[in-house]
Amino acid sequence: MSRTMVAGNWKMNTTPTEGKALAEGVIAAAGTPSTKVVFGVPAIQLMQVKAVTAASPGYFVAAQNMHHEDKGAYTGELSASMLADAGIDYVILGHSERREYFNEDDSLINTKVLKALAAGIKPIYCCGEKLNVREAGNHEMVVSKQIEEALFSLSRDQIKEVVIAYEPVWAIGTGVTASPQQAQDMHAHIRRMIDNQFGSEIAANVTILYGGSVKPANAEEIFGMPDVDGGLVGGASLSVENFVPIIKAR
Ligand code: PGA
Repeated sequence: MSRTMVAGNWKMNTTPTEGKALAEGVIAAAGTPSTKVVFGVPAIQLMQVKAVTAASPGYFVAAQNMHHEDKGAYTGELSASMLADAGIDYVILGHSERREYFNEDDSLINTKVLKALAAGIKPIYCCGEKLNVREAGNHEMVVSKQIEEALFSLSRDQIKEVVIAYEPVWAIGTGVTASPQQAQDMHAHIRRMIDNQFGSEIAANVTILYGGSVKPANAEEIFGMPDVDGGLVGGASLSVENFVPIIKAR
């Protein structure tokens, strides 16, 4: 079973008209991909982009967030069952922008991960340290705590459905990437944690993506590291010219 994946995170960019053209353009240019390709699209585009990908094997759609309750009086929110009924494959959970601007912590994210899994949606769980933490040398400790709190309560069957994205906050949207070795070191650490908690077979199969200023110029080198299975790509996922070479680098 292949671990590889290239996921785009469009964030709050693209109108429905632009998003449809972008997804269609990527599929036309990249053809049948040799890796899973995921479009993480704004909520209003989920069903539309799902329809665009429907006839194209290898392409999937992710929501960028989801509420942790089943349903009810939560104006403006989307539930796991809504995403599942719309045929959405993945949901990005715990992105650093959700943590920073919407006060999400790992206890809440753990609840969301469990809700997504119960609805049959695969979480793309994001973790990663801020710059001051990296500079103090505490990055492994902080990421370990994130993974423990958000994922260690899962069963072995549940963790198999989870994609982990390591995104150092200092590399997101900054143009600064982690070096391939910095990415490899953290990915190997995360895989060891999964091994210790869930066993070596699950650790060998878990997909661990790197995120933070992935571009056509650096994708191949980062994806070449043994524990880097692909990328979660923000800015460079917004154009066919940038995203397709990243898909092909994997
Ligand atoms: P970036 O974003 O590629 O623009 O740095 C990555 C992310 O936030 O997932």
